Amino acid sequence: MIDKILNKALKEFSLDFEEIVYLLKYGENSLFTAANKQRQKFVGDEVHLRGLIEFSNICKCNCQYCGLQNQNKNLQRYRLSEEEITEFAKNGAKMGYKTIVLQSGEDSFFTAEKLVKIVEKIKSFDVAVTLSIGERTFEEYKLFKEAGADRYLIRIETTDKNLYKKLHPNMSFENRIRCLKDLKKLNYEVGSGGLVGLPNQTIESLANDILFFKEMNFDMIGIGPFIKNPDTPLANAKEWTDNFLMSLKVMAITRLLLPDINIPATTAMETLNPNGRIIALKSGANVVMPNITGEKYKRDYKIYPNKICLDEEPQKCRNCISAKIFSIGRKVSNDFGFRNRKVY
Ligand code: SAM
Ligand code: FES
Repeated sequence: MIDKILNKALKEFSLDFEEIVYLLKYGENSLFTAANKQRQKFVGDEVHLRGLIEFSNICKCNCQYCGLQNQNKNLQRYRLSEEEITEFAKNGAKMGYKTIVLQSGEDSFFTAEKLVKIVEKIKSFDVAVTLSIGERTFEEYKLFKEAGADRYLIRIETTDKNLYKKLHPNMSFENRIRCLKDLKKLNYEVGSGGLVGLPNQTIESLANDILFFKEMNFDMIGIGPFIKNPDTPLANAKEWTDNFLMSLKVMAITRLLLPDINIPATTAMETLNPNGRIIALKSGANVVMPNITGEKYKRDYKIYPNKICLDEEPQKCRNCISAKIFSIGRKVSNDFGFRNRKVY
C-alpha cells in the first residue's frame, strides 16, 4: 500500500486525504527516501542558509503555546535598536548569507515607517530580505514590499479552526488567511507552515494542513514540532510521544506534493533530536536558518526551552552547520535561493 501511494505521489504530485492519513500513520523510511529523491530532482543538492535576526521578543498576542506571549512574566523582554538590527544584518551579509530573515513577536513599536527604513538599509547589503513579524494590514505589507522585502513567513499553525480558536485568544483564523492572501497578491514569496503535535491535534487535521499547503501553493513551508514551554498555559499539556517523527513525515509529504518549494530543516526539529536538521535535510528539506542575532539576546527569544546554539557566536554556527551539510555530500548555496518554479 505504501509503495502504491508513494509511486502515485512521485508521478502525480497529488494525494487524497486518505492517502495522506495513511502515510502519516504508517510512512517510514521509504517515505523519507522518496521525499529526498524529489528534493534532489527538483531543487538539487544546494542548501540555502538564511541568517535569522530575532529583533524583538515583545508580543501583543497570546498564542497559548508560545513563550513570547504577552502573559509570560518570566521572560526578559528586549527590542533591538535600528542600528543593532542593521549591524547584525551587515555582519550576516559579510559572512556570506544571501538572505536575512527579520523575525519578532507582534511588536507595534516597529511601525511600518521604522521597518521600511530597516528593510531599505538591509537591501543595500545585496541580500534578499524575509519578514516574519505576524499579522499586518495590506497597506503595511505593500509598504514593506515597496521597500524591497522579498519574502514573508507567516505560519497558519493549524488549519483546524476549533483548535486555532482555542490556541489563539483574540485572534481570528480568517484574518490569518487574509494575511496570506494579501501577501500573495503583493507578489511576495510566501512561506507558511504549521506546528505538529499540539494538544488535541489529530492526524486527520495534519492531513488537512498538508492539503491546505498544496492548495495555496506556498513558496516555502516550515514545519515545527510543538515543544512544551513551562511558562505558557500549555505547561501541563499532554504531549505527543513522536512529535519529531510526525513533523518529519508532514515535511516529507509536503515535499512530495510541492516538489519545487523551499523547505527548512527547522530549529525546533534539532531541539528534539541532536541530529534533527541533518535528518530533515535527508528527508526533503533544502534550507537551514541559523541564528545571527548575537549571543546577548538569543537566550531571551525563548519560544520554547532548550533552543540550540545559544552560546555559539554567528560565525561558529555558520561553520558548524556548513561542515554538517558538507558531510552529507551537499553544498551551501551562494545564490539568493528563490523558488525556481518547475513545470510538473
Ligand atoms: N510573530 C510572528 C508570527 O506570529 O508569525 C513570528 C514569531 S513566532 C514566535 C514564530 C513561530 O514560532 C510561530 O509561527 C510558531 O509556529 C513557532 N512556535 C511558537 N511556540 C512554539 C512552541 N512551543 N514549539 C514550537 N514552535 C513554536
Ligand atoms: Fe549552531 Fe552548530 S549550528 S553551533
